[in-house]
Formats: sequence, C-alpha cells, structure tokens
Amino acid sequence: MIAQNWVCGECGFAAIDLFPPEHCPKCGSGRKNFKSKDEYSFPEDKIDDLIRICEKISYGLYLVSSVDGDKINGQICNTLFQITSTPPSFAIGINHRNLTHDYIVKSGVFAATILGENDQRIVRRFGYRSGRDFEKFKSIPFITGDTGCPILNNAVGYIECSVMKEKTVDAGTHTIFIGNIVGGKLLNDIEPMTYAYYSKVKNT
Ligand SMILES: Cc1cc2nc3c(=O)[nH]c(=O)nc-3n(C[C@H](O)[C@H](O)[C@H](O)COP(=O)(O)O)c2cc1C
Repeated sequence: MIAQNWVCGECGFAAIDLFPPEHCPKCGSGRKNFKSKDEYSFPEDKIDDLIRICEKISYGLYLVSSVDGDKINGQICNTLFQITSTPPSFAIGINHRNLTHDYIVKSGVFAATILGENDQRIVRRFGYRSGRDFEKFKSIPFITGDTGCPILNNAVGYIECSVMKEKTVDAGTHTIFIGNIVGGKLLNDIEPMTYAYYSKVKNT
C-alpha cells in the first residue's frame, strides 16, 4: 500500500496519505468525495472495508535520498522493506513524478535514513512538497554517505544501496527499485517512527 495524492472533489483540498481523509479538513465533506490524483484508487463501494484491512499492515517511515551530480534531494517513504538477506537487498516504491525518483534513476544509488519518533518535522518538510519547488536540505544538518547521498545524523541510522537496474520494476504510478546494501550505520538509540505512530500524532 502506497501513499497517494488525494484531492477533495468539493473544495480541491489535497492530502498525501495511504487513505483519503475521513472528512475534508477544509470543507468537511466525506471520504467518498476524495479522488486519487494517481491512476489507481480503491473501488469506491469497498473503500471502508479495504481501509480497515490495509490499516493492519505495518510500515516504518524513512527519508529516502539520492543525488544527481552535485544536486541532492530526498522524500518520505513508507514502502521500504528487506527482500533478501544473502546478499542483503532492499526494495523501495517511489512515484514516477517525484524528483527523488529522477535522481535515483540517474545516479543508481539511494540512502534511507530511518526516522525516529521525534522526526515529524522532517516528515512535514520532505513528504508533502517536491524538491522541484524548494531546496529541502537547506538548513537541515546532514552527513554525506559513501554513495554521495545525504543522510540525517540525528535519526536512528541509515542504509545506503546501489540499485540493481535489471531488477527495477515498473509498478504503474510507482517504480520498485531493488538495491544491494553497500553501507549503513546505527546512529542513535532512539525509537524508530512507524507509520501508525505518525498517523496518531501528526495532528496533535
Ligand atoms: C507518510 C508519508 C509516506 C509516504 N510514502 C511514500 C512512498 O512510499 N513512496 C512515494 O513515492 N511517496 C511517498 N510519499 C510522498 C512523497 O514523500 C512526496 O510526494 C514528496 O513530496 C516527493 O518529493 P520529491 O518530488 O522532492 O522527491 C509519502 C509521504 C508521506 C507524508
């Protein structure tokens, strides 16, 4: 399940989330008035059942970053998981439209910073607007990994991956990149942020 771009059919309010909001925070209209801007969305007559079952699937939250020459960018990603252990490889699902997608295609590398529970500000900064519109890493402290990707040093830790190009999958709106892990480190003994935790605290 991948976060989608939802737009309220009544007032145009836009939200990025796994599911459309229960009520539009701007005009109050119900979930059924939200449409996905992506090509795929839930069948409308089954939406409540599907949301209930999909909410039982657990995710973490990560800052996936990449490079294009001397340019850097990153985005929030919940769709990261380990695929194999020998050699250790990881998959990420990244929307075709994202600037981070372009950078991963060009450089063939990505890093994933594992966010901590206090990183809600990072999710807001990196998860809702594109690096095409503003410089996301400006005034954010980061270190540069061996792959050249930016990494947040106040987070739980990070992995760096080299994309296996022959195993890249076009999944419609998103690309699934599979990468062999080429580096990584545990940085701080703090609790990793789950998607469920973020959903609970994001409006408080
Ligand atoms: C909680 C959350 C989870 C997200 N998960 C993903 C994801 O797994 N894959 C994806 O492509 N976009 C995901 N997004 C959306 C991107 O982070 C967002 O579209 C971002 O602005 C893209 O930035 P860019 O164009 O600078 O790369 C998520 C956003 C949030 C808030």
